[in-house]
Order: sequence, then structure tokens, then C-alpha cells
Amino acid sequence: MHKALILNGPNLNLLGTRQPEVYGSTTLKMVEELCFNHGKKIGIDVSTLQSNHEGELIDAIHAAKGVQNGIILNAGAYTHTSIALMDAISSVDLPVVEVHLSNIHAREQFRHKSYISKVALGQICGFGTRSYVLALDALVGYLDGEVGA
Ligand code: DQA
Repeated sequence: MHKALILNGPNLNLLGTRQPEVYGSTTLKMVEELCFNHGKKIGIDVSTLQSNHEGELIDAIHAAKGVQNGIILNAGAYTHTSIALMDAISSVDLPVVEVHLSNIHAREQFRHKSYISKVALGQICGFGTRSYVLALDALVGYLDGEVGA
């Protein structure tokens, strides 16, 4: 059975009440439940972590090495700023799928740049909570060696 860490960054603990017009009304707990359930269906054991602190996110990426088969990462605003997170991903040799609830390319210019994309397998954004489900599908496809994944 594959194993994946769903890692959420700053302010995502406030999902459900934070700018619902942008991020929807689903809470982080509900998103995580969705991921646990979807993971069971497609054969990947999901664990979750959220932190508002860049260093804790880096520690979690380091700790995933040798334990997880991949990471689904919504780095929140650190996506657009953190060379340190990008370097952490490069250091662990794990496939990372970048996710965002919103379509960052249709928003402010400063959200168009992603340091995570430079080292991620790919990016899924704009599908709300479904972005996480699609990311899990993409990760499992990749781990199973599907052509085009
Ligand atoms: C986000 C998009 C980021 O630009 C923003 O800073 C977030 C959430 C998203 O999921 O759409 O915190 O990553």
C-alpha cells in the first residue's frame, strides 16, 4: 500500500471561515476526511499535517523521507516565497504534487509564481477541495507507473 502525506501550510487551518468566496466553506478537517476516504478507495494510506510555520513544514518534508511514498503539498502563501521549502523538496527525493484550492494563475500577479512548481511532479489548482482528490489520483498513477502520469 502506498503512503502519502497531505501537508497544508499557513492559514489553511482556517478553511471554512477564511474568505469562503475564494476557498469555499469546507473545513480542513473535512478536506482531510475526504483525503482519508479517497485514499482508501484508490489504495494509498494518507496521513495529514498542517502548520503555519515554514520550519515545521520543512521538518515534515524531511521526516517524510523513507516513510512516505509521496507528498501532496498546499504550501499556501509560502508557495510564492519559499526557496527553503523548494530546497527541502529537492533534498528528499520524494514525488510532490502541488495543490491549491483556487486557480492561482487567475488571481493577483504575485500568486502566479510558484517555487514549489519548479521541483514538483505537477500542479493542480482551481478545483477547490477536489484539487486534493485529483492530486491523490495523480500521485497514485505516478507511483503505479502509469504512462503519462
Ligand atoms: C492557496 C493559494 C495561495 O496563493 C494562498 O496564499 C493560500 C491558499 C490555495 O489553496 O488556493 O493560502 O494555496
